[in-house]
Amino acid sequence: SIIRRSDYRPPDWLVPGIELDFDLTAAVTRVHATLSVVRNGEHDRPLRLDGDGLFPLEVKVDGRVLDPEEWMLDGGALVVPLTGPAHAVETRVEIAPEKNSQLMGLYASGGLLCTQCEAEGFRRITFFPDRPDVLSRYTVRMEADKGRYPVLLANGDPVERGDLPGGRHWARWTDPFPKPCYLFALVAGDLACNADRFVTMSGREVALGIWVKEADLPRTAHAMKALKDSMAWDERVYGREYDLDVFNIVAVSDFNFGAMENKGLNIFNSRYILADPETATDLDYDGVEGVVAHEYFHNWSGNRITCRDWFQLSLKEGFTVFRDQSFSADMGSHAVKRIEDVRILRAAQFQEDAGPLAHPVRPESYMEISNFYTATIYNKGAELIRMMALMLGPERFRASTDLYFERHDGEAATCEDFVRAMEDGGQIDLMQFRLWYEQAGTPHVRALLSHDAANGTAELRLEQTMPTTPGQPDKKPMAIPLRVALFDPATGGHKGDQLLMLTEAAQSFRFEGFAAPPILSINRGFSAPVIVETNRSQADLAFLSAHDDDPFARYEAMQQLMVNGLIGRIGGQAVDEEAIVAAIRGTATDPQLDPAFVAEAIRLPSEAYLGDQMPVVDPDAIHAARESLQQRIGAALEPLWRDIHAGTKANGFSLSPAAKGARKLRNIALHYLVAAGVEDGPAIAFAQFHEADNMTERQAALATLANGTSDEREAALDIFYNRYRDDALTLDKWFQTQAFACHPDTVELIGELRRHKDFTLTNPNRVRALIGAFAGNQWAFHHESGKGYRLVADAIIALDKINPQTAARLVPPLGRWRRFDEGRAAMMRAALERILAEPGLSRDVTEQAGKSLE
Ligand code: ARG
Ligand code: ZN
Repeated sequence: SIIRRSDYRPPDWLVPGIELDFDLTAAVTRVHATLSVVRNGEHDRPLRLDGDGLFPLEVKVDGRVLDPEEWMLDGGALVVPLTGPAHAVETRVEIAPEKNSQLMGLYASGGLLCTQCEAEGFRRITFFPDRPDVLSRYTVRMEADKGRYPVLLANGDPVERGDLPGGRHWARWTDPFPKPCYLFALVAGDLACNADRFVTMSGREVALGIWVKEADLPRTAHAMKALKDSMAWDERVYGREYDLDVFNIVAVSDFNFGAMENKGLNIFNSRYILADPETATDLDYDGVEGVVAHEYFHNWSGNRITCRDWFQLSLKEGFTVFRDQSFSADMGSHAVKRIEDVRILRAAQFQEDAGPLAHPVRPESYMEISNFYTATIYNKGAELIRMMALMLGPERFRASTDLYFERHDGEAATCEDFVRAMEDGGQIDLMQFRLWYEQAGTPHVRALLSHDAANGTAELRLEQTMPTTPGQPDKKPMAIPLRVALFDPATGGHKGDQLLMLTEAAQSFRFEGFAAPPILSINRGFSAPVIVETNRSQADLAFLSAHDDDPFARYEAMQQLMVNGLIGRIGGQAVDEEAIVAAIRGTATDPQLDPAFVAEAIRLPSEAYLGDQMPVVDPDAIHAARESLQQRIGAALEPLWRDIHAGTKANGFSLSPAAKGARKLRNIALHYLVAAGVEDGPAIAFAQFHEADNMTERQAALATLANGTSDEREAALDIFYNRYRDDALTLDKWFQTQAFACHPDTVELIGELRRHKDFTLTNPNRVRALIGAFAGNQWAFHHESGKGYRLVADAIIALDKINPQTAARLVPPLGRWRRFDEGRAAMMRAALERILAEPGLSRDVTEQAGKSLE
């Protein structure tokens, strides 16, 4: 059945208060819930409490046990007719955490008991109106064996605890803030605590705790620093203060997503908490910082103000991603963070927008809400907030967010409420801008710059088109903010950056005072999430790659230069590769540039991104052209790569931006050196692998070796495996590195790893490391035999029986069949049809595979 945004109705019954009592064991947990329910408006509809896999052992109303004919079960939900406007409704159920392999609701992970309720997991714990606009005050009592579960945590503040006979104990927590049930959480287990404190801007002291297995305590320092930095940043930048006496984070090893912002008790996938130099790359460190911040920021953008219904998901996710991106930029380099975020947006969201699963930032319908935790809701949603912030400017944007937080505190709000706060606080008209929430698809902008020598003017003609997407054949022109500058090739400078608003299908802008033709720098800072096509020559791009003072635009010019070269080569044109080599040489030897920026700018666009630039993706031709250009760049600049590689070797480990930048550049230099095919390449990579005192350099060396067929490849993989076989997060890297590798036998190697004794479908991180990564390896996954498709389809079918949510996330790569040649497209469709034919297929996978075939 399909849920539609237009069907929204306010809840029939509200639940201002709930008391929960848990008698916890891994095999059987007894849950006793007492709901105070209040009729919402005048009606005679019964109370309907969602449930999934629950059976009521007892139902009471106002203290009286109901006979079984006084209630009924309807599609899992408990329906109870009520007579008055307010009642106390009690239910008792039993659930089995250790049998919960979906990891939704209450489940067991590595000896712990923990919960994940967003979006609809609470209904697997107890009967309740499981919708985000029902807000309740929670009191939670938990009881468990003290030896096995010495720590008992829930939302809010701890109020009471005590011991019980038989080695058991109990604890009570209350959360003073009304919240929707998707923010409920509890954890029971044998956990150690990294305890710290934070004093808020108004002087309140907050006890901070990061709870992990004892052995992991030394790996929690970075997460704690990120938490304190986030708390201070949200006060300084948004005026948002924390509101409870305690803030706890728990790391668990089996988790469907990155982390969860449960009020006062965030639960994390351990990969976003644990980090030390031996096992975490710089990217992992940044991931910890970003996700800790993201979940913390949800306390205001998500918890204090939640979503009215799940169609408004981007209200909290888009805004919170924008907030965590801004935070990470402030903690490190704005330029590099923007480049990384745009790369992710293009790789994940532009592909989604261009395929059968395209949907608006505020969707109109869904079958399974878990399938809508997408790059569109999160990353495109963040771009929408970023565009509004740009159009308003910093002061008015801050005034608008202040207004938003003040106006809607304690409410379940909508995307429309957010936009209206931007309008009211920023005195701006966002009527046309609202289309960004409604229309799916990535706008295409054609930008043609012409010059009139006689008048000394330049004219920029902009045309926009919106692709059709499922269910949206006709589109209206969007309001697109484009930051633009016109460079004078003689001076190398420009007369200022301007914000142009493209609001019509076609529009022209005139610029005075150009005796000679200027060079166009457009969509600077990636001011709008659009695809821009220009009439700039390779020479113009080479100029910008050396002179543009907007770091993103400079990076972009360099990438476009490479894309044009590679696409030209694939199309059989004569390409001036020397210009690309020269631009790379110029960037890599520019002493003014930050090494981290250089590393981003000089690396070749990914095979997937190149595929996105072609009408029909040809994985083999892309791979061959990219390998060959890489070899040429490697060989032409061999002495430079040797110099950089030797010159960036650090003396001791540091997490300073300079040290991180040096490692990034060093790894690229190694990569080009090995790509050049120099005789000592694998030996240099192996030496780096062997000598590195940090995972960033060790893993990069391993990845470089994994691409080839050298003897060093096997040796390095064996060493890595034996060193980290007992450390799940690091062993994931061993799987992932091989899944990403371009080796002639990648598909067979992945098949073997699928049968490896350390591979399991029950751990989502392991599944993503092997199957998810492989599906992102364009050349290997799209092997012309179709064996890559079969491998992924087999994994989806097997995983669907264990964890449908994670299985559904593996479907989209198969749904991209329209982008490939007929042979591959037929095999991809066959894989999807085989999945759909599977008896008992979940709603999650049914929706994704079904839509992919439409
Ligand atoms: N709200 C969480 C976050 O963005 C993600 C929860 C995803 N859970 C799900 N079942 N889709 O931090
Ligand atoms: Zn989030």
